[in-house]
Amino acid sequence: MRKFFPVEDLARDERFNQITMNDRMADQRTAITTDSRPSRAANRIVPSRGDASDAARGLMHGIFVGEIQALEGAGRTCWDFTTGEEAPFELKLDMARQCWDEARHVEISIKLSDWMGSEIGEYAENTVLFQAACSSDPVLRLAGVNRALEGLAIDVFTTMKEFGEVAGDQYLEFAEDWMLADEVTHVKMGSDWLRKITENDPERRKKALDFQSVVDKLFSYGGTRSESQESPIGLARRFRELAGFDDQEIDVIADLSLAALEERKAAVLEAQAAHN
Ligand SMILES: [Fe+2]
Ligand SMILES: [Fe+2]
Repeated sequence: MRKFFPVEDLARDERFNQITMNDRMADQRTAITTDSRPSRAANRIVPSRGDASDAARGLMHGIFVGEIQALEGAGRTCWDFTTGEEAPFELKLDMARQCWDEARHVEISIKLSDWMGSEIGEYAENTVLFQAACSSDPVLRLAGVNRALEGLAIDVFTTMKEFGEVAGDQYLEFAEDWMLADEVTHVKMGSDWLRKITENDPERRKKALDFQSVVDKLFSYGGTRSESQESPIGLARRFRELAGFDDQEIDVIADLSLAALEERKAAVLEAQAAHN
């Protein structure tokens, strides 16, 4: 079996539609709109939002494809590196455990999507999570995937759990709560291994943290996730703390997200002014 699997060759059947990050950023519906009606890119997902059902279905589909890629990425990390030399056996054991969790999350996500009235392929698949799992350094993979992207998953699951709670959907609330508990474990694996492996290698640690912040920045685009109610997804401080983020790290993500939100709002005003 070959090592370092390219993103273009991921196994998907005809139901899936893949897009790149560039496609996503260029899509007016996810970024800047001249429309004053509530859009998917505006305000926390709550049942009172006009497009709440569709926004929740879209987010659920995003979670579903993220789960598949997290499974693929953790599986590759078990295989791509020599045990003991390039990656400790215990790290691979953690990745194997993660595969088990992600496979379960894929199943749960399919059932939840069905329950919410959606189907596989209704929304596009952005493959950036797997791309972050293609680094030749396992520590960078753990920083980019486990800390940045699964850190975002903590925020997403918390928001969806709250949405289920307010909407009175016990299935959604219960399933999101269980997956959230697993994600906290996955993020903690990233935090623990990053600190352990780079304990005496500040340069490698810096490289990993820089990669993490690049991925964080990419996903802060448009202010989709921040502590403001104007963002569809909140920042889950407490669960991030449990997952090994210190206060300063959380503050940096909070500031970055808020700046991205302000940037989007300014761009919307500019686009509206040009339109009128
Ligand atoms: Fe997951
Ligand atoms: Fe995960």
